[in-house]
Amino acid sequence: MVRVLVINGPNLNLLGSREPDVYGTESLGDIEAAVASAAANLSVEAGFLQSNHEGEIIDALHDAPGTWDAVVLNPGAFTHYSYALRDAIASIGLPVVEVHLSNIAAREEFRRDSVTAAACVGQISGFGPLSYVLGLQAAVDALKAGQ
Ligand code: DQA
Repeated sequence: MVRVLVINGPNLNLLGSREPDVYGTESLGDIEAAVASAAANLSVEAGFLQSNHEGEIIDALHDAPGTWDAVVLNPGAFTHYSYALRDAIASIGLPVVEVHLSNIAAREEFRRDSVTAAACVGQISGFGPLSYVLGLQAAVDALKAGQ
């Protein structure tokens, strides 16, 4: 069975109460439950990790090959400046799909650039919790396509 790890970066543990006008009212638990249900429909196994620490996310990416086949990653604000995360994504040889709840292209100037997306197979941004489900589907398709 295909195994996909869903990683959420800093401050995403506060979803539901964090800036609900921007990120909506669903908690991270709600979103993970929706992804788990989409994964079951696709006959895929999904795992979940949230961390506020850059190094912990990098370690999880390093450890992913051998256990996980693909990764769905919302790097949070690391998206915009973490070359270390970008290099980790590029190093592991697994398809990584970058997802964002908000449309980062339509927000403040500093959010419009992603330094991590170029190391990913693609980016899905702006669809709220649906971004994660679309990200899961994209990860599974990328695996089938051998990306
Ligand atoms: C985010 C967008 C980032 O700019 C922000 O720092 C986040 C959430 C999103 O999902 O829309 O923490 O990644």
